[in-house]
Amino acid sequence: MLRRPRRNRRSAALRGMVQETHLTTSHLVYPLFVVDGKGIKEEIKSLPGNYRMSLDNILLEVAECLKYGLSNFILFPAVEEHLKDKLATYSYHPDNFYLKITSAIKKQFPETCLISDVAMDPYSSDGHDGVVRDGKIVNDETLPILAKMSVAQAKAGFDLIGPSDMMDGRVQTIREALDEAGYYETGIMSYTVKYASAFYGPFRDALDSAPKAGDKKTYQMNPANRQEGLIEAELDANEGADFLMVKPALNYLDVIYALKQNFDLPIAAYHVSGECAMLTAACQNGWLDYEKAMPETLLSIHRAGADVIITYFAKDFAKMYSNINL
Ligand code: PBG
Repeated sequence: MLRRPRRNRRSAALRGMVQETHLTTSHLVYPLFVVDGKGIKEEIKSLPGNYRMSLDNILLEVAECLKYGLSNFILFPAVEEHLKDKLATYSYHPDNFYLKITSAIKKQFPETCLISDVAMDPYSSDGHDGVVRDGKIVNDETLPILAKMSVAQAKAGFDLIGPSDMMDGRVQTIREALDEAGYYETGIMSYTVKYASAFYGPFRDALDSAPKAGDKKTYQMNPANRQEGLIEAELDANEGADFLMVKPALNYLDVIYALKQNFDLPIAAYHVSGECAMLTAACQNGWLDYEKAMPETLLSIHRAGADVIITYFAKDFAKMYSNINL
């Protein structure tokens, strides 16, 4: 045998020298679920270790994450039912607690990168990402609402606006609205290829945001399609997106790879609630070793081409790989 690939695997030093992919905490984004009130910290049953938190606890959480070198957060609001309506008006109301919490985090921790969620579903009495008329999700009527929501979020201090609704044309609408309001420095991390996936269950429980009727198949993509994702990516890139996201991540590594190969923008992947919950459940049963399976999972998403990974494991990863002794 002239070629023996095992020669390069002989020692840790050699393996380190030829390692192709490195994952560090700086690539990770940690989702935080925020609620109005004081002293609230309720665990999300299907996402152990993740909580719905009020501002006081959110500030403690962010401070702890920063100690481990984790500084990127994506925030989601859990809104009380009585504040929801058909047009999601609470999403840009000046008293909106989500916006206030964001400003408070940014004020105390300006070094953070805060990413928003732009979609009607947390604020919609229909539980859909767009306006519902006669049982249909209407696209163009939704766009100005998303624009208002985005400007309010930029004003609150978000670094990146995260449209997750999959309406056509929303990136351009949002970009123009942000520029017009003077927020030309606020970026857009677009949920470019977001699938109508069965893996969002724990998230919808956390926010109580499941659709009241029907499903999201007329706007989120069919899990069978990859080529169509390239159309979405081309549109988002042309409309001014700063990041292209694929969601979910693990069942869609081929899509992440396709976007990485075809576009020069940074690619983000959302390792969604159901994907994390599966691994956590297996580890709790003693069937998998969390300390090994979790980093391997995140590394795989990175290897496939994701520059940025949004994951509920971000804090644990940061803890495991930070050199700080607390
Ligand atoms: C809502 C939104 C969803 C997620 C992020 N933003 C759920 C959905 O589309 O129904 C899912 C995230 C997760 O499952 O971790 N626009």
